[in-house]
This record gives sequence, structure tokens and C-alpha cells, in this order.
Amino acid sequence: MRMDSFSTLIRTASHQQHVEAETSTFMSDLLGGGLGVDAYARYTEQLWFVYEALEAAAGRLAADPVAGPFVRPELLRLASLERDLAHLRGADWRTGLTALPATEAYAARVRECAEEWPAGYVAHHYTRYLGDLSGGQIIRDKAERTWGFARKGDGVRFYVFEEISNPAAFKREYRDLLDGIRADDLEKQRVVAECKRAFALNTAVFRALGEEFPLSA
Ligand code: HEM
Repeated sequence: MRMDSFSTLIRTASHQQHVEAETSTFMSDLLGGGLGVDAYARYTEQLWFVYEALEAAAGRLAADPVAGPFVRPELLRLASLERDLAHLRGADWRTGLTALPATEAYAARVRECAEEWPAGYVAHHYTRYLGDLSGGQIIRDKAERTWGFARKGDGVRFYVFEEISNPAAFKREYRDLLDGIRADDLEKQRVVAECKRAFALNTAVFRALGEEFPLSA
């Protein structure tokens, strides 16, 4: 990996925000086993709104010269999320489904980028999907142990990429795609900034969930 490549830049630039997201109170409490399955379900519901925004745009963006190469059917998560929600909330999971204001803001920004700025959409795409392929596997493992979901089964299907047999290789290819983005330095800086914004939007959702599910309650 070249140290001055765009994929390295985007990774390095968002490192601090990654630490913040990873160590947020809600994530720590959730992965520390201190919260009930209801908190996990509420979090999964928030993910539904984010992936709905990401994936509703995917079909249209598939033809876009910048975002198109990133749109890959094996990444799509919405169907898996819906199976998980049916398991967590029951067949009528849509009835009680609500977005927190922070989630609403996150999804709105994804939609805005999808409509107006394909390179910004890539920043959001990277922040979610590459994270799901990486740390997502740690979350899945903890969730299976904490709430007793079947290994890679209902409840954690969101974290299981059935069609990606070699995640490490997939991530390498993904970074190559990032490195191949044809944009000048200014545009690349804007994408890096959008990536930081994407992390901040995630952290805001965690903060709201942390308020809804305080550990001591
Ligand atoms: C990468 C863990 C939360 C986004 C990684 C990697 C680990 C990890 C171990 C490194 C994988 C590698 O080197 O290939 C975790 C854990 C989390 C968490 C344990 C929660 C407790 C998040 C969140 C986001 C995120 C909330 C953003 C929504 C990313 C991204 C990468 C990544 C984009 C790829 C970095 C790159 O290689 O360019 N995560 N993560 N992670 N994570 Fe997380």
C-alpha cells in the first residue's frame, strides 16, 4: 500500500473519528454486554434508515463514472437488515420503526450527496461498508455471544456478507478503487472532509442511543 495513496489518506484522516466512534459510550456499553437486546434492536433500526438511503440511490448511481464502480450488489445490506428486524421485532417490525433525529439527519445527508455529489456519496459508502466488513465482524461476534443469536444467523445477518468470500481481498480491491478516483487534490480533500462528517453523523446517532439506553438505568 502506498503511503501517499488516497485510500491511505482517507483512512489516516478519519482515524481519530474512528476511535471516537469505537469508544463511544453506547458502543462500549453494547459490546461490553451491559445492554439488553432492545438496545441492539433499536440500533439495528437506525441502521435501516441509513442503508435505505445508501441503497435507494445505488441503482441510479451504478451508471455514474465516479460512484458507479463502488456500487456492488454483494454489498447490499437492506434485505439482511430487514430479516434481522423481523427476528428482533417480529413480523410487523415496520409498525414501530422510527428514526431518531440524529439518524434522520444522517440519512438526509446521504440522500443529498447521492443526488448532488457522487464523490460525497463515495465517502459515505466507504465509511459504512468498509467498516461493516472490518469492525462489523467484531460486533457480530459480540452480539452472538451476548444475546444468543445463531452464528451468522437471524439477528446478525447484517454483518454477514454471504457473497464476499474473501473480505481482505475485497477491501484491497475497494482501496484500489478509491485510489483510482479521478479527482484533483481539492476534490479529494472535500471527500476526506465528507468522510469525517460521515463518522460524526454516526457518532451523533450513538450519542442519541446512549441517552435512550443509559447503562445505569
Ligand atoms: C476499520 C473495528 C466501529 C468504520 C476497522 C478495523 C477494525 C475496526 C479492527 C480495521 C480493519 C482493517 O485494518 O482492515 C471497529 C470496532 C468498532 C468499529 C470494534 C465498534 C466498536 C466503526 C464505525 C465506523 C467504522 C462506527 C463508521 C461508521 C470503519 C472503516 C474502516 C474500519 C471505514 C476501514 C478503514 C480502512 O481500512 O480504510 N474497524 N470499528 N468502524 N472501520 Fe471500524
